[in-house]
Amino acid sequence: MFGLLFRTLSMTFALQTSPQAEIEKRIDTLLARMTLEEKLGQMSQSTAMRSPISEDIKQQIRQGRWGSFLNAGLPADRVEAQRIAVKESRLRIPLLFGRDVIHGYRTVFPIPLGQSATWNPELIERAAATAAREASTEGIHWTFAPMLDITRDPRWGRVAETLGEDPYLTSQLGAAMIRGFQGKSLGEAGRLAACAKHFAGYGAAEGGRDYNSTFIPENQLREVYLPPFHAAVTAGVATFMTAFNALNGVPASGNRFLLDHILRKEWKFTGIVVSDYESVIEMVKHGVAADAGEAALKAVTAGVDMEMVSTTYFEHLRRLVEQRRISMATIDAAVRRILRLKHQLGLLFGDPMRPVAAVEISTEARAIAKEVAIESFVLLKNDNGVLPFAAAVNRIAVIGPLADSAVDQMGSWVMDAKPEETETPLASLRKKYGADRIQYVAALANSRDTSRENFGAAIKAAKASDMVLLLLGEEQILSGEAHSRAFLNLPGAQEALVDEIAKTGKPIVTIILAGRPLTFHGVAAKSAGVLYAWHPGTMGGPALVELLAGERSPSGKLSISFPRTVGQIPIYYNHLNTGRPASVGELGVPLGNPVNPQGFTSKYLDVDFTPEYPFGLGLSYTTFEYSTPRISSAILTRGSRVTVSADITNTGKREAEEVAQLYVRDLVASVARPVRQLKGFRRVRLKPGEKRTVSFALSESDLSFYNESMRLLTEAGEFQVWISPDAARGSDVRFSFQASPH
Ligand code: NOJ
Repeated sequence: MFGLLFRTLSMTFALQTSPQAEIEKRIDTLLARMTLEEKLGQMSQSTAMRSPISEDIKQQIRQGRWGSFLNAGLPADRVEAQRIAVKESRLRIPLLFGRDVIHGYRTVFPIPLGQSATWNPELIERAAATAAREASTEGIHWTFAPMLDITRDPRWGRVAETLGEDPYLTSQLGAAMIRGFQGKSLGEAGRLAACAKHFAGYGAAEGGRDYNSTFIPENQLREVYLPPFHAAVTAGVATFMTAFNALNGVPASGNRFLLDHILRKEWKFTGIVVSDYESVIEMVKHGVAADAGEAALKAVTAGVDMEMVSTTYFEHLRRLVEQRRISMATIDAAVRRILRLKHQLGLLFGDPMRPVAAVEISTEARAIAKEVAIESFVLLKNDNGVLPFAAAVNRIAVIGPLADSAVDQMGSWVMDAKPEETETPLASLRKKYGADRIQYVAALANSRDTSRENFGAAIKAAKASDMVLLLLGEEQILSGEAHSRAFLNLPGAQEALVDEIAKTGKPIVTIILAGRPLTFHGVAAKSAGVLYAWHPGTMGGPALVELLAGERSPSGKLSISFPRTVGQIPIYYNHLNTGRPASVGELGVPLGNPVNPQGFTSKYLDVDFTPEYPFGLGLSYTTFEYSTPRISSAILTRGSRVTVSADITNTGKREAEEVAQLYVRDLVASVARPVRQLKGFRRVRLKPGEKRTVSFALSESDLSFYNESMRLLTEAGEFQVWISPDAARGSDVRFSFQASPH
């Protein structure tokens, strides 16, 4: 009895003194004063704030019509809008300014797919922190990043914004971005609230066509598509955004299973959920809501706290509350989460009128952008050590539509960057080698250009040079939202250009700038060297030149499998084995022979079933040798760990970094398991001749999976484990997991 009294008293005491409880009480008081209109205003986000702010919008801010604006106005407009909100609206609730700060703000880092090829969480965290600092200087509070959608389809235009095909890598890098954006606390100066998007399944769009339906069985959803989002919750992400797609027939913005069952109940996420752009009203077009009112009801019931751009909440939730189809408690819970975020950001009950200043690119930001670009470049081919440039290379022909296109090298989502602050490969090459040693011919006006008019000049430049540097690929507008492609070859007359240049017999190094994996088998065959540079951002040029000149060695590794042809899609490394696996190199019917010589296996008749470039691949200017992995114990028991180690030796002549990758395979389980799964990775720097041991600890949870009844468990049995340079190579060692000690 005394104990109970004591506990109650101390709880009351704790409640009274905890700052969080104090804040919740202040939010209670505020909620109690709010009209339903004001609450629905908080739940509404608009893009209608233009520069200069119209009288209509000013009046709406005074009336508390909007809780948040996205991608709206200039810094000075944000200050003015905030002033109106906190000085002239009835309850003085500050506005929340959201923006798509996707891969940089003023300083542009490589597109996220490029960033993921660094396999370097610390570096990515620094890039996100830089973007946060720049954006918050200009009055932004909230970024709609990171995008955590897994995709296995390079046709999808938004593959550029992903962190690749792997759930583990995406989880690690996504969490790093969140740490970079948010810091230790959202209230810190120079930080942004992050947003895990798009929840969920968006990257599985059928046919790679943006916004298309996705059908994902629950075990695949939980093992492939959801882990990065769960990792985001663990990393403390402040907000989630719903996806545009219908998942198994239910649009994500009205999906109770995703938003309520998984996100709120299983993962205990307490932050806010925002819809995507008009994705609430789009439920009418999906055919799951008869009208805007029903769309609002579905979204708010599922757990969408804030509606982006469409206005179904403001227009219909009042009636739905009056009809008791939605409770005031549901509305209050959503508004509480929004107000709490405003408090955490230091806006509500804080200092919403923070100074806003015009941001400039700092030397430090440039250095980070260059480092990310350097580590993101993936060397795919380097015959006879054509790279780095030999001292004997005197004259270099620089040819291609992407040699000098600042806009294209920045990639998609660069609202706040300036092309003139971006250094192109051509500019950097001229700086480094002197303009007179560089013969530049764009040859094509852009990557889609089909005219061969300028081929002559390009051939002439090639003939007059010691080597040819081709800068080919895809312009920025060929990837990104609603920019899917059905063909993945180099567009326009680029392949024809390579054919002509190859005839000169000059050594060719091809640099590909693109927002996605492309198919370029013929071009690679005609090139001595191939470097994949993604859309590398502001410092793409200087980064490239450091690699070409050999000041640094390439160390990027593919975060997504590159198909040989579009017909192989979806192609990904962590596939199941099938009952009839083919062997590498096995083809079907050789031309003219109708007999299948190698049996009925899972392959194509006309192309090898393996990718052109596997997940994890990336060459270096040096060579690395991996020992067979060693294991600390042949048996792993519950609660214990095994350590897997391998020696990596730099067997070449240059100091370089290598990303060692840990993969496992569960050999026999109650459901078929992937042939390999990434479970760890480490970047190591090695001098020529130097040997280092890399070690990883594995425990039961690293081996778990969802069984037929959707239970997460680890089954006893044998496992293979590799430490290897990519997903297609390496030797393995085996160990067993024993569920109970004997
Ligand atoms: C739609 C996109 O899907 C989303 O990623 C983005 O954040 C919003 N538009 C806001 O621009």
